[in-house]
Amino acid sequence: MRRRADRAPRGTVPRVRAAAGRPRKRGVDLSVDLGPLRLKNPIVAASGTFGYGTDFLPYLDLRDLGGFVTKGLSLLPRRGNAPPRTCETPSGMLNAIGLANVGVEAFLSEKLPALRDCGTAIIANVFGETQEEYVAVARRLNGAPGLAALELNLSCPNTEKGGLAFGVSPPVVRQVVAAVRRAAPDLPLIVKLTPNITDVAVAGSAAREGGADVLSLVNTFLGMAIDLETRRPVLDNVVGGLSGPAIKPLALYMVHRVYREVGLPVLGMGGISCAEDALEFMLAGSAAVQVGTLNFFDPTGSVRLVREIEAWCRSAGVRAVRDLTGTLRLPAGRPPAPCSG
Ligand SMILES: Cc1cc2nc3c(=O)[nH]c(=O)nc-3n(C[C@H](O)[C@H](O)[C@H](O)COP(=O)(O)O)c2cc1C
Repeated sequence: MRRRADRAPRGTVPRVRAAAGRPRKRGVDLSVDLGPLRLKNPIVAASGTFGYGTDFLPYLDLRDLGGFVTKGLSLLPRRGNAPPRTCETPSGMLNAIGLANVGVEAFLSEKLPALRDCGTAIIANVFGETQEEYVAVARRLNGAPGLAALELNLSCPNTEKGGLAFGVSPPVVRQVVAAVRRAAPDLPLIVKLTPNITDVAVAGSAAREGGADVLSLVNTFLGMAIDLETRRPVLDNVVGGLSGPAIKPLALYMVHRVYREVGLPVLGMGGISCAEDALEFMLAGSAAVQVGTLNFFDPTGSVRLVREIEAWCRSAGVRAVRDLTGTLRLPAGRPPAPCSG
């Protein structure tokens, strides 16, 4: 157990060597393997909800997380959509931020150096409006000091194919993943799937064929909100992405399906807000989980989850949290079939 005095003061970037990969000396082993990556615990802060990591230093110690994913990075800086670009919904939120970000060059020159030796896995989230842009951003990040992996956001509209998201077409998924794989051979490649597709496992298999090491899912579900008084959409962009507890059962099902069908390590997410949620995703097949919307309503929530998972494992007699992955007990003799009503 680390002593409090060993820690850097709040608000500063700790200058200690990353302890990722080393299990704690006593108690529950929280470390997990995510394909080629080893994380010190299974909690990773999700893209778009955790800034560039340093934004959360007033609230938590980055060393306590398994890792975090940066805001999506594009080739050039982007201002994103006009406000209103978020709104609260029952048990969730809609966002249409429009992928506002500082751009890959400013990330490399300003954001990443500030995170040197931050003691947790830094995963860069990448997107583009064309395949060439994905490739250019990935090539620029390949070999950047301190980066643990890339996460490809396939929910971005493909401007060359009429604006449909890259992730909805399995042949496009295979092609863009293969191109990025070639452009960034030195970094583990996590491919983030869109849930706005009939069968997410088909896109997952295409990503595996393209060379993905890990699949992360889910991104947000397309949705909208209407203001009855004004008879206008609440979001200026009209359509947004739904996240938070409202999507948890949908996300859990998709993780279960991809884990059983695709054969790659899974990094699941969607509405996780307590240790039990995270552990359910692990039973369904997640090797680790991401936590998104929770960071907005409880900025210390991700670290709380790490502590709660450790306490749960201790009380359940689980010595290594990674042993839980995929241990869902399914009804005997009955193949799981999609069914409703
Ligand atoms: C405000 C906001 C911004 C987001 N930006 C990104 C992004 O830039 N790239 C990405 O891959 N996912 C982005 N996401 C999706 C989240 O990373 C996550 O997949 C989704 O919110 C589901 O998890 P949650 O229910 O725990 O929030 C964003 C989500 C929110 C709420």
